[in-house]
Amino acid sequence: MRTMFSEKVCKSLASGSMIRAMFEQGSRLKAQFGAENVFDFALGNPDPEPDEEIIDDIRALASEPGIHKYMPNAGFHDVRVKIAGLMKSESGREFTADDVIMVTGAAAGLSVTFHSLLDPGDEVITIAPYFMEYNSYVGNQGGVVKSVPAVPGSFRPDVPAVRAAIGPETKAIILNSPNNPSGAVYPEADLLALAEALDDAEKEFGHPVYVVSDEPYLRIVYDGVRVPSVARIFKNSITVNSFSKSLALPGERIGYIAVCPDMENKELLEAAMIYSNRTLGFVNAPALFQKVAARHLERAVGLESYRERRDALYGILTEAGFECTLPEGAFYLFPKCPVADDRLFAEIALNRRVIVVAGSGFAYPGYFRLSYCVSMDTIRNSAEAFRAIAEDCRKRSC
Ligand SMILES: Cc1ncc(COP(=O)(O)O)c(C=O)c1O
Repeated sequence: MRTMFSEKVCKSLASGSMIRAMFEQGSRLKAQFGAENVFDFALGNPDPEPDEEIIDDIRALASEPGIHKYMPNAGFHDVRVKIAGLMKSESGREFTADDVIMVTGAAAGLSVTFHSLLDPGDEVITIAPYFMEYNSYVGNQGGVVKSVPAVPGSFRPDVPAVRAAIGPETKAIILNSPNNPSGAVYPEADLLALAEALDDAEKEFGHPVYVVSDEPYLRIVYDGVRVPSVARIFKNSITVNSFSKSLALPGERIGYIAVCPDMENKELLEAAMIYSNRTLGFVNAPALFQKVAARHLERAVGLESYRERRDALYGILTEAGFECTLPEGAFYLFPKCPVADDRLFAEIALNRRVIVVAGSGFAYPGYFRLSYCVSMDTIRNSAEAFRAIAEDCRKRSC
């Protein structure tokens, strides 16, 4: 029998997003007990305000003549020239404006990319833990996600396992470093080993495996850590970036795609992406915010405050006895659950009014994610609750 609305969408609605579900639980608890009595670490919503310089630019640019008109679907040429310059300086490759397409945030950038790359049945490898919206961006095009678990604890890619997962149907692999949810920055040695595996696969199967590098946390890194340039290492790379995190502008929906200039047939892929941007209904990225972003390409708003909060929350967790790797980037911690079932752990935490997202929500059971986009007071005041949760888990394990 035919369903009234899209069967595929209705099924997805029923399975739901774990992050959203926890967010809703948090809202319910806050209404019941008061916001100050709930420790909600569920949502990765950048909490700093864009600083005065950015706000001033928004004001000034909003009154520039012609800024609000239709434009080429790839975006403003001068903006793309600036981004190409940055990509060139970071990768050493000859990026030009033609290789850059402005998009409506990373979510749209990934949708445009997979719309342009995939045929039904094509496989896309992801390294778990990963941002589960990838399943939709790939699935919307009939693609199939094949998840390969990262090395526990370090969350580095397990390159031999990736090598073993690649087959004739593999069209692409998604990299996300710094990673949501683990905060891991993939070391250059791992990326070089991966490049070798992809070269071997290309020889064996007769077509490239494209690297889709999802980089919204590129500038959110701590302690002088350097994120290796994916575009430098992989000739067949597509970089997707956004200013949602770095400029604390997630509501404004602005980002870009950069296609590696040394990729074979890159002109066809770029034309496909511009077509996809238009026909998926994005048309072009928000005009005003293309211009704003171009003035602040390398900024990371609130970085020092994120670092302080990372350190404070990490200290609280490890003191309470949780096993946790200090992340090098993004704004999440991804500790190990002291009980085997991560969904049960999320419930135990909820009983102490602490909202976390179970690792299963990132295809990596046995762990949980905490976003530290919350106030320092929330972090400090959560210490007692984390001690109590650790104790609750100990009692269960006895
Ligand atoms: C890993 C990852 N990729 C992509 C996105 C989407 O970002 P945007 O707001 O730029 O669409 C997010 C958002 O949280 C993310 O965490």
